[in-house]
Amino acid sequence: MTSLSAIGSLGILRQPKTVLFGPGERRHLPHLVAGIARHLLVVTDARMADASEFKEIVSAIEERGVRVSVFAEAEPDLPRENVVTVADRFGSVGVDAILGIGGGSCMDLAKVVAVVLAHGTDVRDYYGEFLVPGPGIPVITVPTTAGTGAEVTCISVVFDREKGMKVGVASPYLEAHTAVIDPELTVSCPPALTAATAADALTHLVETYTDKVKEVTPDYLDAHLYVGKNPLTDIFCRNGLTLLNTSLERVVADPSDIEARSATMLAAYNAGMAINTAGTAAAHAIQSPIGALTHTSHGFGVGALLPYVMRYNLPTRVTEFAEIGLLLGAADPSEAPLDQARAGILRIESLLRTVGCPLDLRTLGLEPTDFSYVADQAMLATRLTANNPRELTKGSIVSILERGYAADLGWWEL
Ligand SMILES: [Fe+2]
Repeated sequence: MTSLSAIGSLGILRQPKTVLFGPGERRHLPHLVAGIARHLLVVTDARMADASEFKEIVSAIEERGVRVSVFAEAEPDLPRENVVTVADRFGSVGVDAILGIGGGSCMDLAKVVAVVLAHGTDVRDYYGEFLVPGPGIPVITVPTTAGTGAEVTCISVVFDREKGMKVGVASPYLEAHTAVIDPELTVSCPPALTAATAADALTHLVETYTDKVKEVTPDYLDAHLYVGKNPLTDIFCRNGLTLLNTSLERVVADPSDIEARSATMLAAYNAGMAINTAGTAAAHAIQSPIGALTHTSHGFGVGALLPYVMRYNLPTRVTEFAEIGLLLGAADPSEAPLDQARAGILRIESLLRTVGCPLDLRTLGLEPTDFSYVADQAMLATRLTANNPRELTKGSIVSILERGYAADLGWWEL
């Protein structure tokens, strides 16, 4: 059974010019970099800068005659100060390409610095959608975790301390020139980070596959990145969900299983391709204020919300959840669609449990006194709430939070 609900709608992908995938394929980096740069800026974090793989990559690029400068002070949750520091330090040294290697923050830093260096302004001028005036210098993304999809997404999320919130710089001009996705680089990823990023990728796939289908006019597309569920991102969603269905258990059991690591990383890339034009929805809108309050990881935050968001959305997405149930081998083809849909939701929850994601909000440290604030903040993320298939209100978000706080997995709206 394949839903045709999105077939009649606009299909759209945004992607790097070149994507390389495969274990060990980072060996192509020197050739790729030499084709676009004479002076490369590499941005990463302190952990990666210490790794032998990192040093080998830098040496190999230098051996091709490319000058390399390194910024190894990228911090988690990308503070705006990182962007300012990199622009100040490297703005006038003739850098002509940037390589971002690491987790989502490192790649987001590379993408946003590329446009700041090209246009010489403050990153604050670009907070929002479609406010970047033109292309940046070329960026190569090299992820070392399997989850965020930042290697292919054209958004950088920046934490602005003075505003006290995370803000997105979202523009097609942030799209990387090249992504090199080498699963070997995830083998040293700590188990807790592997688990949180896997929960993030799974949530990306579920949210985009069950997104709202929108009527997209030329004016809408001129001002918005996200068009909701569509026939092109559905291809990536189906593939990604199938890959995670079999690989997550193996990655948790044996972090050195390169075949399973590869499947998980391919799924995370698929998920990145899906969120880049479909857009995430309620779980991501609600996680952001919860993460800010509780200082818990993005991946476990969206994963912990997902069971309750799926249940809330079920009345409008029976067909899609039933497809997920069948795709993951959890549903019986002879059952009624609603039973198949519930089986799909239960299988997603089982995968979240496999990676050790909490399936409630109390574990994250959320308190009932926070519910009203969290709901108000989530409603402000209209870029994401607009993608949710069932309309969200402050009241419905509080209800999702109450169910999540009570760990009420017996809740079925339908
Ligand atoms: Fe996410």
